[in-house]
Parts: sequence; C-alpha cells; structure tokens
Amino acid sequence: MNNMPDFSQMAASYQQRAVVQQSAGETLLEMLDIRPGEDVLDLACGPGALTARMRERTDGRVVGCDAAAGMIAEARSRHGSAGIEFVASDAARLPFMAEFDAIYCNSAFQWFDDPASVLTACLDALRAGGRMAMQAPAKKEFCPNFVAAVGDLHRHEDTREAFARFRSPWRFLENAENYARLFADAGFTVAESRMEAVVNRCSAQQAMEIFLSGAAVAYLNPHHYRGDVPADFFSRAAQIVAAALERQCGSDGMVELTFHRVFVLAHKK
Ligand SMILES: C[S@@+](CC[C@H](N)C(=O)[O-])C[C@H]1O[C@@H](n2cnc3c(N)ncnc32)[C@H](O)[C@@H]1O
Repeated sequence: MNNMPDFSQMAASYQQRAVVQQSAGETLLEMLDIRPGEDVLDLACGPGALTARMRERTDGRVVGCDAAAGMIAEARSRHGSAGIEFVASDAARLPFMAEFDAIYCNSAFQWFDDPASVLTACLDALRAGGRMAMQAPAKKEFCPNFVAAVGDLHRHEDTREAFARFRSPWRFLENAENYARLFADAGFTVAESRMEAVVNRCSAQQAMEIFLSGAAVAYLNPHHYRGDVPADFFSRAAQIVAAALERQCGSDGMVELTFHRVFVLAHKK
C-alpha cells in the first residue's frame, strides 16, 4: 500500500484516545443492526474494541481485519479469546468470498487509497442480500478545530518550511450524495447516506488526545512529507497544535470540537 499510515506504532495507545471514533462507532453499530446468528466483518478494525461489541450481538462468525500488523497483534491480545478472528489484510485485497451477512467500517474509509477497489472487495466478501455500514470523517474541513490549529504550522517560523511539504493521505468527499454515488457506482444499493456535524465538548488536553488518535497519524508522520524534515519538527509541531487548541477553549477551559461525519448504509443485490 502506498500511503499506509503508521497505525502499528500507536496500537497500544489508540483505544484510550479514540473517544470520537468509539462514539461514532456506537451510532454505526445501531445503523448496521446486527442480528443473532449473522456473520460479520469489521473492516479496518484497529485494536478491536468495536469488533468485541459485535461479538455481543451475534453468535455467528465475527472477523476483524486491518492492514496494520501492530493493530492486529493488539486486537488478538485484547479480544482474541472472545471467539473473534483477527486477520491482517489490506481492505482492497480481502481474502473473503461470499462469507458475510454484514460489513462494518468505522473511522477508516478516509485512509483508503482506492475506495472503489475496497467497495468491490466488500461486495465480493458479502453474501447476496448482505449489507455494509460505513462511517468516516468527511469534507476537507473534516474537523474545523484541527484544520485551524494545523494552520498555525503554516504561520509559525519554526514549522513553516517543513509543513509546506505535507501531503495529505486522506480522501474526503464534500457531501452525502458523493458518498452515495461512490457506493452505487461500485454496485451497492444505497439505503441511506447522511452527513452530520458531531460536536464533542472537551478540554484542550482531551482535544489533543483526540488529535493524536487519528489526525496526527498523517500530520505528524514523516511518511506524508516530501523530502526530509528536521528531526525536531514533529515535537515542535505537536506543541504548536496543542497551544492552538488551548487558545480555542472558552473561559471555562472547554472547546467544542466539531467533526463532519458521513454515515452510509448500503446493500448487495
Ligand atoms: C482510526 S483507526 C479506526 C479503527 C477502528 N475501526 C475504530 O473505529 O476504532 C483506522 C484504521 O484503519 C486501518 N487502515 C488504514 N488503511 C487501511 C487499509 N487500506 N486496509 C485496512 N486497514 C486500513 C488502520 O490501520 C487503522 O487501524
């Protein structure tokens, strides 16, 4: 995979920071509405906390798959004894053929290099009549707070030069119709596609933890910069983002962190 973010390195710390992914993931679980006996795939499962929630809903087969070997190792050690299979695989090259009633994909779609190939692999993995539920951050301004905070890296003399060489690995679409079209073009029948602005009220420190659970895997990762960056760039950039989030807080020390999120439910014919 060309743009593999280094989620392996953060496998152990991800879960305690992944507050916004977890709460959006619970909404997505309701949308997928897993029934007893169904076989379910959690696509890009991370360390498996949400996969374990699927195990509570069905006595069928539950499989988590993720491209990061570190995430799969973490998921196996946390939840492998709960009767969940964890498989290392790129989402575009799934080793499954007509094996699942439902596919769940939370907070990962923006990372996929080739979303159309992922959707084709998902259609192959589903049985006829199966369904897929997907939630991901959406819009270029996926989190206006983070986009504004990162804007300081352009302005600050310590980071300006290196940050100009950042290349975003993410693919964001601007509205729910665009996501619906992507699924329909792949061959799904789209039952629902909606976009929401989800607001989390939190302290600057919590906001920074949330930044570190996802956005930092791109912004603070040398893999996503052209050429070499100075050794101290990433620690300095983290300080500047943390200070910017601090300034976004009101007099009560809290900030309203907004995420644009898309939710899609689609069926295989
Ligand atoms: C933000 S985490 C979300 C994890 C989990 N679904 C959750 O909601 O907590 C994104 C995950 O996507 C995985 N990922 C990124 N690109 C992938 C790909 N092409 N194929 C499979 N997994 C991928 C990463 O390794 C990471 O574990």
